Formats: sequence, structure tokens, C-alpha cells
Amino acid sequence: MISNRAQNLQPSATLKITGKAKELKRQGKSIVSLSAGEPDFKTPKHICEAAINAINDGFHGYTMNAGTPELREAISAKLKRDNKLDYDPSQIICSNGAKQSVGFGLLAIVNKGDEVIIPAPYWVSYPEMVRLAEGESVVVRTSFKNDFKLTPQQLEDAITPKTKALILCSPSNPTGACYTKKELEGLADVLRSHPQVHIISDEIYEYIVFEDDHVSILNAAPDLKDRTLLANGFSKGFAMTGWRLGYLASSAEIVGAVSKIQSQETSAPSSISQKAAEAAYNGDLSEVLAMREQFKKRRDFMVKSLNDIDGVSCFTPGGAFYVFPDISSYFSTTTTSGNKIESSTDLSLYLLEEFGLAVVPGDAFGEPDGLRMSYAASMSDLEEAMDRFRKGLGSLK
Ligand SMILES: Cc1ncc(COP(=O)(O)O)c(C=O)c1O
Repeated sequence: MISNRAQNLQPSATLKITGKAKELKRQGKSIVSLSAGEPDFKTPKHICEAAINAINDGFHGYTMNAGTPELREAISAKLKRDNKLDYDPSQIICSNGAKQSVGFGLLAIVNKGDEVIIPAPYWVSYPEMVRLAEGESVVVRTSFKNDFKLTPQQLEDAITPKTKALILCSPSNPTGACYTKKELEGLADVLRSHPQVHIISDEIYEYIVFEDDHVSILNAAPDLKDRTLLANGFSKGFAMTGWRLGYLASSAEIVGAVSKIQSQETSAPSSISQKAAEAAYNGDLSEVLAMREQFKKRRDFMVKSLNDIDGVSCFTPGGAFYVFPDISSYFSTTTTSGNKIESSTDLSLYLLEEFGLAVVPGDAFGEPDGLRMSYAASMSDLEEAMDRFRKGLGSLK
């Protein structure tokens, strides 16, 4: 009865652990959750006001399928201002979140059997989106020693005549790692000799970077622009996850193909959210910067606390709101109730069930030796979480 397509799709592992944490909470257990993938802040007021005005002004109808001309103008101006990239509004399509932008982007370029290179650890949705597009994911495991960044040699080794695309995510979910311009130049050198390979550059965490400015692969290699699909959105930087607004910038040909798919699947995103997004890009960024400051303090606390624990190591991520410590030295241990810990999933379940701490196992992201902890949580929750983590690991024999 159910299609093979739906049956073969994996449910989100992040949602599985969050679901279990919610269930335990309902049963009255004290749970601290570091599993969230969204900012714990409110959307800035001026953005909300733009949406309220849109409602009161009767901006209630369908908009153009690719988004309003005004929002696409605002995105084009922002790409120029913040990213030094030239995109005409006709090369931009707005969707219901960057998730849809990446998903429709893949549907627009991938044919059955085409290979898509995904560096691991990866955002959980990428392989499933490739599967929906009938492509084949080629997962390349990166190394903790290298802050989980793909090297040019790894990229070269993974490319075959069937490679259609590479998905890059910087700053990264789940590691927070940011590629430097030099590192992106190294990858671009490889991509230049393989003209059939497109680049899906997911830059959704762009505004959450702590030391250096955000760098897009297109800053390192502007000549790759026609085969790059730049995905971005408003969810993370502006704390707008529920507004569902993202976009894709690419060649007119690719944007046209995405537009055709969108026109038959969903049409344009919400007219109200589009007005809000326009205000976000045209307005003042001081609240975005204030959120970033908070995230930076929390990152510093998390990295220090983790590295102070015996057998745990964590590099300092340059962006996003995640840390991804290596916890593999705790494999082959036993809990006080006699259960064996053999994997990051075992460890996460143990921490949740016995210490009320929800984290996402690295297994979910294709990296078995790590765990993802989100620090989109209050400082007091983070302190409590680190206490529980320390106690949980300390009780293993
Ligand atoms: C790497 C990455 N890309 C894209 C998204 C999708 O964001 P949205 O659809 O809310 O714009 C997320 C959200 O978790 C993400 O982590």
C-alpha cells in the first residue's frame, strides 16, 4: 500500500531522540535537552511587526511562485552587501525553508543513479533528500583531527564519472566547523577539473560565526557560480524557524527548473513570512549580533567543559550552535546496571534514560565516534547538562 519511496525513507534520528525526551518529560522525569536544532531566542520585534502589518494591510494572496519581487530584490541586495556576490532577483527562488530549497535543488539536478558526495558528519536530511531524488549518496567520512572538514584529496578520490553534486555545509550542522577561504580554494581546484559536478552550498548558519567572517565557496571560486546552488534562509540567524522561509540562488536555468517543481508541489511560501523576511534583510542586524554573542559565550563554556572531562575531546567550532565531541574512548564500557556501551547511540540512550540528558548520537550524522550537543539552550541548562554528562560518563566502568 505504501510506496517504496516512502518505505525506504529513514525518519529523522534527531526527531526520534527529541520524541523520546518529550515522552520521558511527560512521565514527570527531569530532562535537560541539548538536541534542539533551533535558536532559543525570539524573532526580532521589527520583523514580527512587518508580518503584523502585512496581515493588517491585507497582503493575503498567493505571491509569485519564486517569491515577491521585493523579497528577491532584498535577497539580491543582501548577497551583494554581505557576501560580495552578484545575483539578479531572477536567479533567486524563495521556498518554505532552506530544507525545501536544498530538496528541490536536488530534484532539479539529480537523475536516477547520479552520485552525490556528502561529507560526514552530515545534516541528517541530505542522504534522504538524495534518496528521494533517486540519486546515490556517496558518504565521505572526514576526520576529527581535521575538524571534520573534507580535504581536496578526499574529494578527488570520491569523484567518479557519475558524480552530479557535492553538498557542502559551512558553518556545519552537526559540527559547527567552518571552512576557511584557503580550504575552499583547495576544494575548488579539484572541482574545476570535473565540470559535471554541481555544488550545493548550504549557508543557513551564515550569521552565526564567531571569529572570522563567513566565507562562501563562491568567494573562493567565483568561476564556479553557474554550477553552484547557494541555499540560505532566515531560520537560524534571525530565530525564524517557524516562519518557514529559505531561498536558493543559482543560474537562471537551475532556478527555472526549481521554480517549475515548486509551482507543482507547493507554490510560493507564505506571503506574510515573505514580508517578515524582507524586513529581516533590509533591517538592522543588532539583534542578530546580540544572539551571536550569547552563542559565543555558550560555545566557549561547552568546549572548555567538554575538554576538561577525561577521555572527551572537542575542537572549537567556528560557527552554528553545536559542539561535536569525540566520545569513542567510552565505548566498550559497562553501565552500573550492567548494560554494555558499544556505540554513540548506546551512550545517548543511557544518558537520556539514566541521567535525563538528551543529546544526538553521532551515528545519526554518519560519524559513529561523536555526539552532537546543541547549545541553543540557557546557560543554566548547559551547566546542568554538563553536570549530568560528567556524572553519566563517570559512572561507566
Ligand atoms: C544544515 C541545515 N540546512 C538547512 C536547514 C533547514 O532550515 P530551514 O528549512 O528551517 O530553513 C537546517 C535546519 O536544521 C540545517 O541544519
